[in-house]
Amino acid sequence: MKSKVSFVCQECGYDSPQFLGKCPECGEWNTLKEIRIEALKISDFGSDINGSFNKILTPKTLKEINYKEENRFSTGFSEVDNVLGGGIVPGSVTLLAGDPGIGKSTLLLQIGLILGGLKKTTNAILYVSGEESEDQIKLRAKRISKEKTNDNFFVVSSNNTNAIVELLAKTKPKLAIIDSIQTMESENLTGLSGSVGQVRYAAALFIRIAKTLGISIIMVGHVTKEGMVAGPMVLSHMVDTVLFFEGDKFTRTRILRSLKNRFGPIDEVGIFTMGNIGITEVKNPEQIFLTESLRRSAGSVITVTLEGTRALPVEIQSLVVFSKLPVPRHVATGVDPKRLEILLAVLQKHCNLPLLTMDVFMNVAGGIKLTDPGADLSICLAIFSSLRNIPLNKIVGIAEVGLLGELRSVPLLEKRAKEARKLGFKNIISSETHKSIKDVLDSIGR
Ligand code: TYD
Ligand code: MG
Repeated sequence: MKSKVSFVCQECGYDSPQFLGKCPECGEWNTLKEIRIEALKISDFGSDINGSFNKILTPKTLKEINYKEENRFSTGFSEVDNVLGGGIVPGSVTLLAGDPGIGKSTLLLQIGLILGGLKKTTNAILYVSGEESEDQIKLRAKRISKEKTNDNFFVVSSNNTNAIVELLAKTKPKLAIIDSIQTMESENLTGLSGSVGQVRYAAALFIRIAKTLGISIIMVGHVTKEGMVAGPMVLSHMVDTVLFFEGDKFTRTRILRSLKNRFGPIDEVGIFTMGNIGITEVKNPEQIFLTESLRRSAGSVITVTLEGTRALPVEIQSLVVFSKLPVPRHVATGVDPKRLEILLAVLQKHCNLPLLTMDVFMNVAGGIKLTDPGADLSICLAIFSSLRNIPLNKIVGIAEVGLLGELRSVPLLEKRAKEARKLGFKNIISSETHKSIKDVLDSIGR
């Protein structure tokens, strides 16, 4: 193979064989940069290569392909394993995306330390950092690791794509963590680290080596508002799995979600908290989403929301007070502000609640963002509870509220109700118990 020249748009990743002034994909001007990709010496990666050019291909029947589910290995975090569909598949490439500072490096370092500490690990775990020095990584590891021995855990601080690929080919670790893909740089092509060309080139090499040598790779990708397109999103069609690590930097709750998964479900979520000594998984989410002691006060109602297929009990809080302003304030955290406006209008029109002159503040405990319409009823009830000063701490509301004030059924109601009953709630209000929000308020008594 000769070396190949192509022109890649630094905004959207469009690839063209010749130079163009304007990118036909995204319409930006002067964004195409020349990149020169040196032909890879495939033989360096070993002899048994899928899709190799100079080899005679031999198709197999499905019976002849020996894939075993047991080949997957655990990350040491059952919440991460679940999201992946039962652990890491050997030779798979996963992109872990998320805002800077959310805890991606910490989570992966913890996984590396756990796996590198296992006695039965035959192959090494390699943590490649292009962001931190080896000293910094050691400091962080000391902060978060309880394990004394992690002799199979290796650290290298580098951002040289080609050197890393060579190291991977030579040492063949079981799992390699690349932190982060945006810092990787190769002299084989022009462009700074983080540019589309560099990111794609590095990812393509890592993916190729993962597939040929059966090394599992997890790459970190930062997502920023500006870098959204030029960053890891370009990679999502190249990798096997895309995970998002999300959360609010000001709260400790973190949610791991899969956006794409060739080897598992895309609707599982993992829940974690960020603490002083790293990240811990949360097996009983109600611990963080419900504030037990305060629930006796007015203004708080529980709902059970769906995150993927997981039913999570969360507490919705509302504070309704007289407004001193000509236009009262409606402030929502964790609840969509537009949804709040609609529900306030429904409560005024169909339940005659005097909300016109009231400031309304909403919050969802635990820093989760509700997008599930099943929370509508509890949002309305929390507002009512605060307005009338009636504690509704025994009630769980699970229903969408329509513009006519009617209660609508929501997916997986039984599963959600079961979750609420597990916590000891007996009074579960839904479209099966009441027809409209007015019916609900009438039955509570106002
Ligand atoms: P980090 O894993 O570096 O984020 P990312 O790799 O996604 O950019 O996490 C950085 C933040 O996490 C930083 O603000 C400090 C905080 N942190 C903790 O709260 N507890 C810990 O044990 C560690 C190691 C970090
Ligand atoms: Mg990091």
